[in-house]
Amino acid sequence: MTQRTDVNPKIDWDALVSAARAAARFSHSPYSRYPVGAALLGADGVVRGGCNIENASYGLTMCAERVALFKSVSEGVREFRALAIVGGTPDSPAWPCGACRQALAEFCSPDMPVGVAPLRAGAPEIRDFSEFLPFSFSLRDRK
Ligand code: THU
Repeated sequence: MTQRTDVNPKIDWDALVSAARAAARFSHSPYSRYPVGAALLGADGVVRGGCNIENASYGLTMCAERVALFKSVSEGVREFRALAIVGGTPDSPAWPCGACRQALAEFCSPDMPVGVAPLRAGAPEIRDFSEFLPFSFSLRDRK
């Protein structure tokens, strides 16, 4: 697991959730009509956004979280301070899917905070990443 190099960073959740909402505006979701946005704060201090991108061949759909993650990694950023996800409704926000949890586990430390908020408005519910995927699969600890 990649270790964080920063110490007790203060996360501006208003800014991060706003970035996720801005990213969600680019969502291509004509099939589900379920826009999702994500904003990933890198150790470099840069926020990279992502939206879900659907396809007529449904299985090719890419989630917002993985777009933000892959954008970051493809730009050389592999350590992260926080993730915000927006989607769904006030009663049922968009919790990250299992595939995204596993993809994030490759790079995100167990104590990275993840905030999940409704699409339009409202404060995020913030939990450590380890709560989303305890006992995650990893090849890093092989002897
Ligand atoms: N979706 C995401 O973007 N992230 C998730 O973690 C769960 C699902 C998207 C995929 C699809 O475009 C839509 O939500 C409905 O499943």
